[in-house]
Amino acid sequence: MIEDKQAWGSRVGLVLAMAGNAVGLGNFLRFPVQAIQNGGGAFMIPYLVCFLLMGLPLLFVEWSSGRFGGKFGHHSTPFILDVMDKRKFWKYIGVFGIFTNVAVAAYYCYLESWTLSWIWHSISGSFVGQSQEQVATFFGNYVSLNSIEPIIFWIICLALNTWILSKGLSGGVEKASKIGMPLLILFGAFLAYKAITLKAGELGAINDGTVGLNFLWTPDFSSIWSAKTWLAAAGQIFFTLSLGMGSIHCYASYIKKKDDVALNAMSAGWMNEFVEIVLGSAILIPIAVGYLGVDKVMEMTKSGGLGLGFQTLPFLFQQWGGMLAIAAGVAWFGLLFFAGITSSLAMGTPVIGFLQDEFGWEQRNSALAFGKIVFLLGLPTVLFFNYGVFDEYDYWAGTVSLVVFALFEIILFSWVFGMKKGWKEITDGADIKVPNIFKFIIKYIAPAFLLAVFVGSLPGIWEQLTNVALYKEIAETTDVSAIEHLKTKMLFVNISRIGLLVLWLAIA
Ligand code: ALA
Repeated sequence: MIEDKQAWGSRVGLVLAMAGNAVGLGNFLRFPVQAIQNGGGAFMIPYLVCFLLMGLPLLFVEWSSGRFGGKFGHHSTPFILDVMDKRKFWKYIGVFGIFTNVAVAAYYCYLESWTLSWIWHSISGSFVGQSQEQVATFFGNYVSLNSIEPIIFWIICLALNTWILSKGLSGGVEKASKIGMPLLILFGAFLAYKAITLKAGELGAINDGTVGLNFLWTPDFSSIWSAKTWLAAAGQIFFTLSLGMGSIHCYASYIKKKDDVALNAMSAGWMNEFVEIVLGSAILIPIAVGYLGVDKVMEMTKSGGLGLGFQTLPFLFQQWGGMLAIAAGVAWFGLLFFAGITSSLAMGTPVIGFLQDEFGWEQRNSALAFGKIVFLLGLPTVLFFNYGVFDEYDYWAGTVSLVVFALFEIILFSWVFGMKKGWKEITDGADIKVPNIFKFIIKYIAPAFLLAVFVGSLPGIWEQLTNVALYKEIAETTDVSAIEHLKTKMLFVNISRIGLLVLWLAIA
């Protein structure tokens, strides 16, 4: 066994860092919108089934594979997978666990930097007295880079990530999680309380806050027969738990050989679910419905959660007036910032582990290299946000890549490494009795489930690859300049795909 230079300072720190890895912008902006678009309360059926049959098994697999690789001094998936079987093929599958982290961090950190900027604007009163259209225009101008401000906040955000990463595991990541996670819960509880106690007729609201909550949770059971709902639920489980990324493996690889992984995996996983289901549903939608009504919010969610989170909420908070508006803005964007940074730090750690283990780089230089790589790869998402580059990264790295990697890793774990050894890895040092049924689930159900998700996603992947939606949009547009914009967008989208492919090959 090889002694690690880095280690977790405490168990609480490890669980908070792992929970911080999972709890991200996806919990607050993605989850409520996915739920509304896929059957409201009924969405919870496929969501919970995916959590139990795919999420939890993969958490066990990733935590235990990580701790296993750590025994050999490896902290990144190419080398963790490599020690699980002698065939070199797995090392190249492990490349996904570096690729995804770098490519997701490239667009994720830009999003994270918006939260810093919006905190600043909430404090400095930029949204005071503005109409809803003006706040929306503010956002439009921001992402169109009408000023240098987005670049400045983005660089500050990258520098902050790099600096924390350079402090190492216990001195950087763990400390940030110990500060960030409690504050996130505190801010979330404050906003959820304000949202649920919102009363029609008070502070300009037209509905009680509970109307939005009802709207979100009212089940439309017809939706659970649709494959689209199941794919959405599976996608949300992947994204929210940060599965199939390689970040869980990396964090777990720093656990001591005989330390528990089973209870830790459960604790971090359920903490994420609490934040997602309870807090994630109690803020964005109840406040938005309270002021705008169900129909309008339904319409707005069609374009995702970013618009509601960054264009609508800052305007609605102004209806609360004075200090309360400032406090709400700081709490909302502060919460998003802590959710984001504890996730982006988890994306940096495997890259640093890889550079340290395999090239013998120092912590500081590895962190700096991560910052530089994310800067270079993220630049197109910042400069060409309006040309779909950001969404393209999100689709290939933040959606498809996760499923592909997870499918291969679960086959490796349960069929190649073998369930006998695998079960031993999961239960060794465990502080809970892992139900035996998970042996069966990990070996048969989860791989079959993942295969079904992958096959079910193929038509969508093909449509994305062949730009079906863009061609349709072009065909339906009559305005010449809009057509030109769409054609340029197609060019940027194609170039970013090639860029991502080159990135994967370069890592390999
Ligand atoms: N798990 C992280 C999120 O939900 C990536 O944003």
